[in-house]
Amino acid sequence: MGGGYRRTMAKRALITGITGQDGSYLAEFLLGQDYEVVGMIRRSSTLNFERIAHIQDRLTLVAGDLLDEVSMINLLREQRPQEVYNLAAQSFVQTSWGQPVLTGETTALGVTRMLDAIRIVDPEVRFYQASSSEMFGKVQEVPQRETTSFYPRSPYGVAKLYGHWITVNYRESYGLHASSGILFNHESPRRGLEFVTRKVTYAVARIRAGLERTLALGNLDAQRDWGYAPDYVRAMWLMLSQDQPGDYVVATGETHSVRDLCQLAFACAGLEYRDHVVVDERFIRPAEVDLLVGDASKAVATLGWQREIDFPGLVAAMVESDIKLVEHQQR
Ligand code: NAP
Ligand code: GDD
Repeated sequence: MGGGYRRTMAKRALITGITGQDGSYLAEFLLGQDYEVVGMIRRSSTLNFERIAHIQDRLTLVAGDLLDEVSMINLLREQRPQEVYNLAAQSFVQTSWGQPVLTGETTALGVTRMLDAIRIVDPEVRFYQASSSEMFGKVQEVPQRETTSFYPRSPYGVAKLYGHWITVNYRESYGLHASSGILFNHESPRRGLEFVTRKVTYAVARIRAGLERTLALGNLDAQRDWGYAPDYVRAMWLMLSQDQPGDYVVATGETHSVRDLCQLAFACAGLEYRDHVVVDERFIRPAEVDLLVGDASKAVATLGWQREIDFPGLVAAMVESDIKLVEHQQR
């Protein structure tokens, strides 16, 4: 931990949520662009650096929490980043029904705390907010674009909608260079095990190894626009590289059901999903987002953003990675 302000030619970026999936890929990407990368880490009783262990010696990790504004003011004063990427959140939709107030405090009000800290310490800082396609919820238009009306369907979606609008509001109220990336689902071998893609690919690897027989899931008919996380963190940086801040949808433009995901992932290991997948009511949500599919035309035209990996490539890479992981765990 630690590391004070140094005047150098390199740009300095602060990432909240650096221990998460996106934070780890964004840190790698920014290091590759010769940034100095500062990561905000919240206090926990055990270290949680699995996703950033391979780059940890190139990062400055500093204590702070989205629930505590003073920690962010002090962090900004000490580190003086030019760019702040706010990726930290209670990000699991299912948990947001069980912990709606915590989700609101972190995922919604945490954004205001960071924006206020920026306004107080250095309003020249460029800010990225990790907004979400969950804000479209019960979709009002297909495909969803920047102008589509929002209709969130979970406490998480409601909290993200607050985070989005407070970002727009601080841009309009105080002239901050604050951008909101409305990112559709993006996955990777570093995805948390509770999210459906990783839950499926890890189960495939364990079933293949003879360690499990069944996989219990919820709604198999839900459809998502799934992309590859490293492609999406590039879009975040592109947003902050523009002269003007803005709001951008980032998506593949394709949608697949959870059933399609299962079929594809099990087939990667020579298995038939119908032999293993069972539906369990515990994983059915109180309100569902049935269909997400995004139109990223604005990001493509304005940012020059393109994705590099398609859905079958993503699923195959995740299955392959989990097969190696399970083999390693068995040694
Ligand atoms: P993730 O893997 O769940 O990571 C969340 C990060 O937030 C972790 O580093 C976590 O720290 C940190 N965090 C949670 N509460 C915090 C607090 N109170 N103070 C400081 N840090 C806190 O999420 P992700 O998939 O990388 O997503 C990154 C962001 O993009 C999130 O805001 C998510 O809601 C949003 N988003 C994600 C997707 C997607 O498909 N992945 C799509 C749209 C938007 P610990 O490691 O200590 O728990
Ligand atoms: N997690 C999970 N577990 N989801 C399941 C399961 C299961 O056993 N069975 C079916 N699903 C369905 C969910 O009901 C949902 O419709 C879909 O699979 C995707 O669920 P998740 O992978 O948990 O992701 P999410 O779409 O709810 O949220 C993710 O994407 C958002 C962007 O749209 C998260 O990364 C959010 O943080 C992000 O904002």
